[in-house]
Amino acid sequence: MADFLSQYSIQRWLEMCPQGYLEDTVDGHEPGLQEPEEIMADDDFREASIRLTVQLIAGERAALAASSGLVNLAPDDPSKFFLATQTLDEARHVEIFTNRLIDLGVKKEDVNSTVADMANPNLVKFAEVLLGKVADGDFIAGVVGQNIVLEGMAFSVFELLKATSDEVNPKFAQTLSGTIADERRHVGFGENRIGGLIKQHPEKKAQIEKMQAEMSYHMLATFADTFSQGTDSMERARQLAAESGAASDVNWHGTNIAQASTEEMEAVLADTVLGEFKTRLGRIGLEYQSPKVPA
Ligand SMILES: [Fe+2]
Ligand SMILES: [Fe+2]
Repeated sequence: MADFLSQYSIQRWLEMCPQGYLEDTVDGHEPGLQEPEEIMADDDFREASIRLTVQLIAGERAALAASSGLVNLAPDDPSKFFLATQTLDEARHVEIFTNRLIDLGVKKEDVNSTVADMANPNLVKFAEVLLGKVADGDFIAGVVGQNIVLEGMAFSVFELLKATSDEVNPKFAQTLSGTIADERRHVGFGENRIGGLIKQHPEKKAQIEKMQAEMSYHMLATFADTFSQGTDSMERARQLAAESGAASDVNWHGTNIAQASTEEMEAVLADTVLGEFKTRLGRIGLEYQSPKVPA
């Protein structure tokens, strides 16, 4: 617990995050950067970027609702302190992706209706499973659902997006790099804090494993929808990347994501996320359950 106290304290968070990698940034990026002209001048591409950003906002809103709920459920002060810092991180994530939506041309007053209209229904269900556990007051399931499942997913999705944006959209890539650093800390807390609690409450394992399978099912359905809708915009993004001289070889977990088909992209993302779930759940004494495969 001593390590735990210092590793996840508010002091450590201040040093690492606001006084560390976020220092002198605006929304996580260098001041003055803008969305590339290629996106802003092309309505289809801009709309696809809006749709993608909406999914990030929907996920981050769920994380904000879950982490703030978990503060009050936490059984000890160090966990409360960490979850309070996480609550602020998640609020920041909602804010920076909302600001990106506005930068992409959505009017401030239309943000909520745009998110409601465009959020993927499977992602909404994914969030409902997690928020149901928090509403039931189930701290252990809530932390597994949020800090292992939701954030394990977010972490890999952000990494993939960052890898595809590094050369063509430094503003978005830099914003993502701060969120990746935050998510890494959140996932670490989940693993470090929850293993001991699961040992004390082995009777909870079965229902937590069931929750993970349900959330994984909705996640895979979200990926399937997103990639099948995204074929045209991915092609467009690649043409633009090629025209601007970006690398044609970007390796991400063994797949060249600068050339892969949408099916291959979906497969490498799903495999990566599920592989991480297996490893992390194993470390906290849970057995990964394969979800049904969405139709
Ligand atoms: Fe987040
Ligand atoms: Fe997070």
